[in-house]
Amino acid sequence: MRVMKHPILGDESRRRIVTVFYDGKEIKAYEGEMIAAALIANGIQTFRYTKKNNKPRGLYCGIGRCTDCVMMVDGIPNVRTCITPVEDGMVIKTQEGLGSWERSDQDE
Ligand code: FES
Repeated sequence: MRVMKHPILGDESRRRIVTVFYDGKEIKAYEGEMIAAALIANGIQTFRYTKKNNKPRGLYCGIGRCTDCVMMVDGIPNVRTCITPVEDGMVIKTQEGLGSWERSDQDE
């Protein structure tokens, strides 16, 4: 669910739609919206699993303070998705525990 017409933010339907990849699945998002907002709009609520007890976590504070929303984004762990805007082609993965840095072919 999204607020399509907001008195301050304007008309959402006029924004450009981009494609991002969540755990290998292609999803649509509005350019510039936060990753967490795009995921929730697509029915995704679990963003990570805790290291100690493997408990699911998702959006909590929504303002970049609690770190419950961290995910792997373009190979970088611990990205706070509630304050990080989507970019076309972004690769977003559910984070297990503390996550880990993913190497790209260019690193070798
Ligand atoms: S939900 Fe708290 S930092 Fe993102």
